[in-house]
Amino acid sequence: MKKILFVCLGNICRSPLAEAIFNKKLENEGLSVKLMADSAGTSDYHIGENPDPRTIEIAQKHQTLIYHKGQQFKKHHQEEFDYLIAMDRSNLENMIREMGENPSKLILMRDFDPKGKGEDVPDPYFGGANGFENVYQILDRSLDEFLNFLKEKHDL
Ligand code: 4NP
Repeated sequence: MKKILFVCLGNICRSPLAEAIFNKKLENEGLSVKLMADSAGTSDYHIGENPDPRTIEIAQKHQTLIYHKGQQFKKHHQEEFDYLIAMDRSNLENMIREMGENPSKLILMRDFDPKGKGEDVPDPYFGGANGFENVYQILDRSLDEFLNFLKEKHDL
């Protein structure tokens, strides 16, 4: 079992959505026994909280089940997970600060985006509903590429 942790700032918008979209792809491909996803936030702002209502809405619009309680990213996650996927550069830097190093398992989500390699997944928290649809589209195509990468790398 390979374990993937998606990380953003609040753990109520981008990373729980990434987790939910990825889990749906795993279910669709019968890969839930080989791969599992979870998510966390670098801040402590929303520990124990459900995803933002706008995140739940966009997931439901795309027939994607979402269930998550906010948790904070901690150093110990580095040992528990095989891949740490940061939504943006600021998250990446905060994670390196928490871990005290930059392990090779730490990757930027949009390194897998065929349409915007290496860019940040924009933070939709302070914007309107359109920002959430944009994030959904970015994550959906980046996660397809990420899943292809995992299948190839681990012979799945
Ligand atoms: P997320 O979005 O990092 O995608 O979950 C945010 C959620 C909450 C806050 C910032 C970003 N906040 O400042 O509370």
